[in-house]
Amino acid sequence: MKIAVIGAGNMGGAIVKGLLCGKSVSPENIWVANPSRPKLDALQSIDSRITITTDNQEAVSAADWVVLAVKPWLIEAVIKSLTFRSEQVVVSIAAGVTFDQLTSYIGGTHTLFRVMPNTAISEQASMTLISSYNATREQEAQIVLLFAELGRAMIVPEAKMAAATILASCGIAYVLKYIHAATEAGVEMGIAPHDAMIMVAKSVEGAAKLILNNDTHPAVEIDKVTTPGGITIKGLNTLEHAGFSSAIIQAMKSCL
Ligand SMILES: NC(=O)c1ccc[n+]([C@@H]2O[C@H](COP(=O)([O-])OP(=O)(O)OC[C@H]3O[C@@H](n4cnc5c(N)ncnc54)[C@H](OP(=O)(O)O)[C@@H]3O)[C@@H](O)[C@H]2O)c1
Repeated sequence: MKIAVIGAGNMGGAIVKGLLCGKSVSPENIWVANPSRPKLDALQSIDSRITITTDNQEAVSAADWVVLAVKPWLIEAVIKSLTFRSEQVVVSIAAGVTFDQLTSYIGGTHTLFRVMPNTAISEQASMTLISSYNATREQEAQIVLLFAELGRAMIVPEAKMAAATILASCGIAYVLKYIHAATEAGVEMGIAPHDAMIMVAKSVEGAAKLILNNDTHPAVEIDKVTTPGGITIKGLNTLEHAGFSSAIIQAMKSCL
């Protein structure tokens, strides 16, 4: 598979770095286009076998799959400035740009994907959401495999994309908020700020791994930590008296 990434910013750059770590696409088959050179040079310094260019069309013409990683307000202009072959698969990572919009810019016959990674893509730990349009099962499997190299990837219907984005992309900010708040509690209890932050962040990573590696449920794992009459249940009940679960549910629903 030959792949062109248009836009070498945070997301485009992270996708290229992730692809270079993975096995799906060989570096010789990666093209990256960006208007300014420094981001391109930085990516090529990681692996000189990738092709960099300031000419979007050059990258697009070379590829089977084109990933559009520019800001949402540039998508229309970028697509309209390019010529695509009908068999090319076009992947947009622009938040909020719908298939209705994409097909009106590019035409309705292409295979299109909307992809929503989160910022942990830079650590190859993204939860990436993918919606498909006009795609075969094989193409869906291909793109899931591609983004699974950058964390986990899941196909979701476009109608669920907004809700899923709140959980997986905005959700990272809420988890970080927890890490920040818990770190402050640690500092108040006399633990050095950096130590406190590492303790909390590692606990969050551990909690996530318990769920992801064992296909268990948070309630089951919470039960294992809560000794009757112990300290954990005091904290959990204090959280609920303060409206913890309700606050999270309300916060997420308020984003829709
Ligand atoms: N950041 C996130 O958490 C996140 C999560 C999911 C999806 N997204 C989506 O990812 C997309 C990119 O976001 P980002 O955070 O990576 O933005 P970014 O860091 O600003 O990157 C955008 C890149 O596009 C380049 N660019 C500008 N005009 C271009 C053109 N005409 N042709 C080709 N490249 C062009 C910019 O180059 P110059 O800087 O040289 O102008 C920049 O390198 C957005 O649509 C966003 O909705 C972001």
